[in-house]
Amino acid sequence: MGEDAQADLRWVKVAPVSELAPGRGRAFEVDSIPVLLVNDGGSIFALHALCPHQGQNMDGGSVWRGVLDCPWHHFQYDVRSGENVFPRNVYPRDIPRLQREVRRVRTYPVRVAEGIVEVGVPPRTDGETAPPQG
Ligand code: FES
Repeated sequence: MGEDAQADLRWVKVAPVSELAPGRGRAFEVDSIPVLLVNDGGSIFALHALCPHQGQNMDGGSVWRGVLDCPWHHFQYDVRSGENVFPRNVYPRDIPRLQREVRRVRTYPVRVAEGIVEVGVPPRTDGETAPPQG
């Protein structure tokens, strides 16, 4: 994401880092967006919580070495880029058939301030103003 795009983000406090168990994804509503926070060996990442495969919430999915495993049918996503790594990289001949189901999952920028994970979400377009944070 470019610097200008980062400047437009609204940072929303979501959860203390201490509540994010390593190796497990946990879903939150962030400004009405389902967001999955994952703790991969102490590094925190945020992805859209709904799996592109069948739209199920990936809450509780396991994370190992940068890869999130959806708990429903075990499609896997790179936690940094959101790219599908399974089945895309294992069954490349099936990709044309799977199409939408192997889309990347959206990722969101994350920062930690005073032990609290904040997620950068796009500015609202409905004219509402964000509630004060903190
Ligand atoms: S809903 Fe995630 S793998 Fe099927």
